[in-house]
Amino acid sequence: MTKLSVIGTGYLGVTHAACMASLGHSVIALDVDPEKIASLSAGVVPFHEPELQELLTAAIASGNLTFTTDWATLAEQADVHFLCVGTPKSKDSDAADMSQVNGAITALAPHLTKAAVVVGKSTVPVGTAARLASQLKENAPAGSQVHLAWNPEFLREGFAVQDTLHPDRIVIGVTADSDEQALREVYAASIDEGTPFIRTDYATAELVKAAANSFLATKISFINAFADLCDAAGADITQLADAIGHDTRIGRRFLNAGVGFGGGCLPKDIRALQARATELGLAEQFEFLANVGRINQMRRELVVSRAKDFAGGALAGVRITVLGAAFKPDSDDIRDSPALSVAKELMAEGAQVVVHDPIALPVVRRVHPEVNCADSLTEAVTGAQILVHLTEWNQYREIDPASLNALVAGRVIIDGRNMLDRDTWINAGWAISYLGKPGS
Ligand code: UGA
Repeated sequence: MTKLSVIGTGYLGVTHAACMASLGHSVIALDVDPEKIASLSAGVVPFHEPELQELLTAAIASGNLTFTTDWATLAEQADVHFLCVGTPKSKDSDAADMSQVNGAITALAPHLTKAAVVVGKSTVPVGTAARLASQLKENAPAGSQVHLAWNPEFLREGFAVQDTLHPDRIVIGVTADSDEQALREVYAASIDEGTPFIRTDYATAELVKAAANSFLATKISFINAFADLCDAAGADITQLADAIGHDTRIGRRFLNAGVGFGGGCLPKDIRALQARATELGLAEQFEFLANVGRINQMRRELVVSRAKDFAGGALAGVRITVLGAAFKPDSDDIRDSPALSVAKELMAEGAQVVVHDPIALPVVRRVHPEVNCADSLTEAVTGAQILVHLTEWNQYREIDPASLNALVAGRVIIDGRNMLDRDTWINAGWAISYLGKPGS
């Protein structure tokens, strides 16, 4: 059992804290926002994530998980401190905004009066860990007894608990054997399961994360570029992806063409990596990431222009139902969501848009009050001339299109995720359009 702390209670922090507590570690989690801490202490998970609510409730009840806003309490109660604060895109550039990371280290350091390991999990520009290590050494009263380690996080929203409890690899950047040992104790359960454990230096650990997310984003834009080529040539992107995916060097995962990637990670991470590589004199090598981002943006534009085509050239006054608001299913995260971005663009073109999502609507209403939302699918589709499917919730795959026929004003659906069954929709009398494969 390790006494550990978690700094920052966003997606990563709450999940890490609850999962570590469930493994028997004693965890204290800190946030600078007292409201967040009050609500977490009362056992409320502030976002939708399968399994997390149960885990948090149990962790609090067991006494293994407590919360604080006080740095001195945190430093006193833990020996290993996980840094889980956010690194969003800067307001005025593509680089990561490091103010939360810098703020946390500045606040924590003066309270480190005994030996401790500070473990960075936030996604940061390469070079950050080395800088923070010397900052800690200079400002912590315990000086060289305070060590820094880097331990990137690879969890996916929607699978955050499983990815934390059973990761597919553990990567640590450390400078001392004792720090490796401390992390081996924290992650003993996963290591016992046979999870690959990779010890490396700071810079490599930082870059592993940047490389993984850039690769995933590139894979998606690669297949989406081919989706356009399939459309131009009359080919089928899904069959193409299935066929190349059988080559284990390529693999089928992350080859689903459609409206592209969104969320709080991939879009910002590719921009931050490109910005950092440019700073390091490698602008040309990393220019491809700008194209990855551009292809991704074009997916959203493509859906809007498809809708325009169906509407006969102009969208003013056209009633459109957008199915999905979250950036992916099993999440209520709408950060840089392709679905919402398309909905807003359709609105900007004058369409009367109604957005449906099984769970993300409360967040949409809070953040984008101008967007018209409908809680029930029936209400959402009533009077619609065009349906646009943009987040692949199971609920949408299971729709019986015939049951919508009496409600809608037009039987047209654009499947921006290439997931709906063609024959089912055509047999119910609908026109269906995909991004990269023949529709009706
Ligand atoms: C991503 C990475 O997958 C995680 O490994 C990483 O830890 C995380 O970012 C992070 O940096 O914290 P996440 O943002 O939860 O995780 O979402 P993904 O599952 O990667 O999906 C990202 C987007 O790509 C979604 O909008 C999804 O719809 C889209 N996508 C995914 C596709 O368009 N096609 C695909 O084949 C797969």
